[in-house]
Amino acid sequence: MADQSAHDSEIVGRVIDLLGRRDPAQRHEARLLWASRPALYLLLRLSSRGGPIRRVPRLGWVVNDPVVARRILNDGAHFTLLGEGGVGHLWAQVLGDYVYRIFDGPGHADLRSRARDLFTDATARPLVRRVFDPALQPAVERLRAGEVVDLADLSRVLVGRMMADLLGLDLPPEDEHYRAVFGTGERLAKLALGSAASTELPPEVVAQAKPIIADLTRNVPAAFAEAPAETLLGRCRELGLSLEETSGIAALLMVAGTETAATAMARTVALLHDTGQQHQLRESPELLPDAVREGLRVTTPAPLIGRSVSNDVTVGGASMRAGERVMLLTYVANNRVGRFDVNRPYVPETRQLWFGAGRHLCLGAALARAEISHLLQAILDAGPIRVVSRRPARGVLIPSYAELGITTAPPR
Ligand code: HEM
Repeated sequence: MADQSAHDSEIVGRVIDLLGRRDPAQRHEARLLWASRPALYLLLRLSSRGGPIRRVPRLGWVVNDPVVARRILNDGAHFTLLGEGGVGHLWAQVLGDYVYRIFDGPGHADLRSRARDLFTDATARPLVRRVFDPALQPAVERLRAGEVVDLADLSRVLVGRMMADLLGLDLPPEDEHYRAVFGTGERLAKLALGSAASTELPPEVVAQAKPIIADLTRNVPAAFAEAPAETLLGRCRELGLSLEETSGIAALLMVAGTETAATAMARTVALLHDTGQQHQLRESPELLPDAVREGLRVTTPAPLIGRSVSNDVTVGGASMRAGERVMLLTYVANNRVGRFDVNRPYVPETRQLWFGAGRHLCLGAALARAEISHLLQAILDAGPIRVVSRRPARGVLIPSYAELGITTAPPR
């Protein structure tokens, strides 16, 4: 069965190559999306042509244009993430009704203004170094010694370490514990997979999600009571959040910041390899922030953002009715300007749409950038790399590599 599906996927991969006639980097990205989420891949491919906004049966309004997408994300008077089609709707069913109070509207605005400095560039960099280096530096040594390192696995372990740190989990130093933390977050995210047509969760999915959240946040009560004010949980306490709300935010961070960050890390390294631009980056290290930005733009780890129309509105000539769903295909919108290129200047139309926009703009953006940047720097320092194996993950919410073997050893 597994052989058959790998074989089918191989054939489809070849068709993608033939149809697309793209460069190797684009081909690998297309194959990854196809293998991880075939229906999503088809939606993105089919929606990349045509007007900026259109109505698709069963899905609702589909937007592929960065400017229209940002206009919707900035319009809190007509769009919400708490209604059908929005991620807040999913969370409210699992976490409780307080989500309606703090995930949108005035309660959310208040929380966001108090949480403004939770992650800044200045605080994220030392945090990433402290949390990543115990696992990253040994991997870099192995690369320097010419061994093969599975960068997809390493990214999962590093992000698992970050989550354990943020959630106050007191775990032994071995990688396996952090791999498991990542896996738990992944299982939780996977439960959202069936929500493309509706964000109303069946009772059995809610029942599966609750123990996973309880497991992930098991140390939050203790850490919430004692954690120093500069830690995430201590900060939530100082902001006046209740323990229940803090546990909810902790669970949200797990889902929002695990698979997204890990896939961006591994795929950006693959893009640097597949485009050959790792060499230019090694010669011109000042391009590192541009490489991070391009990696985020091209991979767009959250490839679509959902919203619900809360009040009738006309956008881009489309008359939307309250209760309808809107899908913002950020992957398509961000990739319109072209392929991965570390020399590409900042693109004003997309800005940083890979992190969303408006009042729900990613809270962990600075942390995610610091994570990708620190990993890229460490890999570049190890020497020119070659990808020796790669395998996409299947049936995951966020398209990603299951395995990405890299080495600095020359080909035999
Ligand atoms: C490359 C990595 C990441 C990407 C691409 C990403 C992307 C996004 C996007 C697109 C949104 C907006 C969702 C919406 O409007 O419905 C978002 C929100 C959010 N992200 Fe991230 N994210 C990343 C990493 C992280 C990390 C590392 C954290 C924290 C540890 C984080 C925490 C959050 C939170 C809490 C929100 C909700 C903000 C709100 O609703 O006010 N994210 N993220």
